This record gives sequence, C-alpha cells and structure tokens, in this order.
Amino acid sequence: MNMLPSVLLVGCGNMGGALWNGWLREGLAPSVVVDRHLESVPTPHRLVRKAEDIPADFHPHFIVLAVKPAGMETTIAALAPWLPGSLLVSMLAGRTGASLKAACEKAGKVIPVIRAMPNTPSAIGKGVTGAFSEDIDNSQRAECTHLLAAVGKVAWVENEEQLVALTTISGCGPAYVFLLAELLEREGQRHGLSHELARMLARETIAGSGALLATSPEESATLRKNVTSPNGVTAKALEVLMAADAWPQTLERAIDQAAQRARELAV
Ligand SMILES: NC(=O)c1ccc[n+]([C@@H]2O[C@H](COP(=O)([O-])OP(=O)(O)OC[C@H]3O[C@@H](n4cnc5c(N)ncnc54)[C@H](OP(=O)(O)O)[C@@H]3O)[C@@H](O)[C@H]2O)c1
Repeated sequence: MNMLPSVLLVGCGNMGGALWNGWLREGLAPSVVVDRHLESVPTPHRLVRKAEDIPADFHPHFIVLAVKPAGMETTIAALAPWLPGSLLVSMLAGRTGASLKAACEKAGKVIPVIRAMPNTPSAIGKGVTGAFSEDIDNSQRAECTHLLAAVGKVAWVENEEQLVALTTISGCGPAYVFLLAELLEREGQRHGLSHELARMLARETIAGSGALLATSPEESATLRKNVTSPNGVTAKALEVLMAADAWPQTLERAIDQAAQRARELAV
C-alpha cells in the first residue's frame, strides 16, 4: 500500500512508540512527534518536547493521542491550532468519543474523532487494535485502518459498548496469557523442573500454541480436542480446568468484572 500520510503523534511511550516504529517500517510522510523523553526521530521527521513547539505550518493528516488519559482536555487544548483538517485518533483508554469531541469543541474546533484500543503485542507488530468512530466516511475509515494496521490487525466495532467488550478480550487479554505463563512456570518448578527450564517450557508452549492458533483454520475447540486423547494425561487436566466452576465460570466472572470497571472508568 502507499506511504502513510503525515502524523502528529502526541506521546511516544509504550503504545505511541510501538505505533511510531510500525509507521517508520511502513514509511510515512514527514511527521512530528511530541514527547518529553524520546531521544531522536529519523529525518525528515521532527521531534518536539511540547505542543507549543510544533511547527505552525505543519498540517497533519492524523493527530494521534497516545498520552495517559488524565489531562486529555489540556492536551487537546494545546493542540488547537493543528486540529482543523485532521482526523483525531485517540488511544486513550476510557475517554469516550463524546468527551473527546467536547474537548475539541471547547478548544473551538470540530473534527472527526476515532477511538482506538490497541494491545501490547503491537510492540512487535502482532497487536490487535479495536476501532470505533461515527464521524468518518469509508475512505477515511480505510486510511485509519492503514494507519493502525502498521502494528497488527484492526477490528472496527459498531458502538462504544462493543469497544468495552473488545477491551476485556484483546486489550486486557495479553495479561491473562502472561498470567497463564506465570502459573505454568510455577507448576513446572513445583514438579521438579529448574526455573530456567520451566520458564522456557511455559513460554514456548504459549508462543507455539499462539502461532498454531494464528495459522490453523480449525476452531480452537478442535485444536484442543486434537491434543486430548480420551482418558489420557491431558484429559485428566482438562477435566479439572473445564469443570463448570473452574475456568468457564472464573473467566466469565473476570470478564464481567473487567467490563464493569471499563464502564466505571469511561468518561
Ligand atoms: N500500554 C497499553 O497496553 C495500552 C493499551 C491500550 C491503550 N493504551 C493507551 O495508550 C495511552 C498511552 O499509554 P502508554 O502506556 O503508551 O503511556 P506512556 O508509556 O506513559 O507514554 C506516554 C508518553 O507521552 C509523554 N507525554 C505525555 N504528555 C506529554 C506532553 N504533554 N508533552 C510531551 N510528552 C508527553 C509521556 O511522558 P511522561 O511520562 O513524562 O508524562 C510518555 O513518554 C494511554 O492513554 C493508554 O490508555 C495503552
């Protein structure tokens, strides 16, 4: 696909940095990054320390907000001169489209707003980003998909409630998988393996199973059944894990709690 249009990236930490690296790999028109800590950006791009230092004659196609959600209004107010003519893509967890638009209006500008919810595998280009907007047409949507696809897959949802659901699955999901890795590692050690071996086995098993899931056309349940001989060793473990009050109900409770928290934090 073509080179990406210009971006004004505000905040280049974990998430902004992952996107920035993806865009550099892809190639993007001369862009500007606002960040207090980043050391440099390759030419022809520019790095500034604060919004006030963004060149006045820079007209970004996208403004991507990747700072912490607190202080969103102040950040948008500082960006007011660069908002007109741009699409505002917000990575800010819990900041609704309505509050982002209200902040833009308070800054005297009305522009299309897109909410995006990435996850941490974006750092290696293997992320999933959920996206939602009610302000853009099909060609703007395609441009946003191109922008976000620099770090993985992009899934558009129909409303902000679905963005909450997506957050509890793919946004938080890496933490669930890392917890599984921790627990498998602990069990390996409890059954006599060294820390190094248990760690390697847990990680490679999850990474390999993930790669298999990503490439196999089979349903997850089929892949599970394929490694479960009746009455065998795996079957014994799954009997415990799949009991109604074990993983199925525990995960249901966990996702419900996460969704409730996401709704509480939404402003
Ligand atoms: N990490 C994730 O998995 C994830 C997933 C989904 C969504 N998000 C969202 O992504 C956003 C960014 O998260 P993150 O983890 O990438 O945060 P982060 O690592 O703290 O990155 C933000 C960067 O922007 C800098 N910054 C903030 N305000 C600035 C300003 N006014 N001028 C110059 N630099 C400024 C910060 O510097 P200081 O530290 O000095 O403020 C920091 O270097 C959050 O809103 C979060 O909700 C993150």
